[in-house]
Amino acid sequence: MNAIEALTTRKSVAMLAEPGPDKAALETMIEAAVRAPDHCHLRPWRFLVIEGEARARLGDVFAEAERLRAPDTPDAMIEKVRGKPTRAPVIIAVIAKVDEHPKVPGVEQILSAGAAAQNIMLTAHALGFGGIWRTGKPCFDPHVKAALGAREQDLIVGFLYLGTPVRAPATAKDDIHDYMEHWAG
Ligand SMILES: Cc1cc2nc3c(=O)[nH]c(=O)nc-3n(C[C@H](O)[C@H](O)[C@H](O)COP(=O)(O)O)c2cc1C
Repeated sequence: MNAIEALTTRKSVAMLAEPGPDKAALETMIEAAVRAPDHCHLRPWRFLVIEGEARARLGDVFAEAERLRAPDTPDAMIEKVRGKPTRAPVIIAVIAKVDEHPKVPGVEQILSAGAAAQNIMLTAHALGFGGIWRTGKPCFDPHVKAALGAREQDLIVGFLYLGTPVRAPATAKDDIHDYMEHWAG
């Protein structure tokens, strides 16, 4: 698939099966991720590949976090939360490493990590994989952040769920003129 086709056809895929991206595919995704624009070359990101048994450990962390956040949560709901990371063969957690900088405010560092995340999504699509970028409460949870080695000032910008699409996503066509304007002063 050429680059323009990848850029203009990506769709999220929530139902993902084995096989997930292998080592070579994952490395290509990270090569693309680190091509994201990055003001002052801060490299404000970490990419944690979570696969195999590590997904169950991430599920335990999600469940612990839910219990800590809302101690009265019914057990069935805790188990549902625990199972979330097993929805795909591979997850990449993208973490924005946010530091004080005289020229680059934190929001730019977060945007940079977000651009890196999107490069991963697009590379996955170009390689024939499906994926969906998810956040939810775990991204902003101190227990989850600590388990992933993120500092208080860092932000988990997303959990990128990746695998083989169970079925092809419906194609959608936006009318770009709903969003595109020419500004001439
Ligand atoms: C920062 C961010 C966080 C998101 N979090 C979630 C999420 O937690 N759960 C979810 O179902 N979709 C989430 N989405 C939306 C999906 O990734 C996806 O974009 C959406 O389902 C629309 O599908 P499309 O990408 O094919 O247009 C998030 C998107 C972004 C950019």
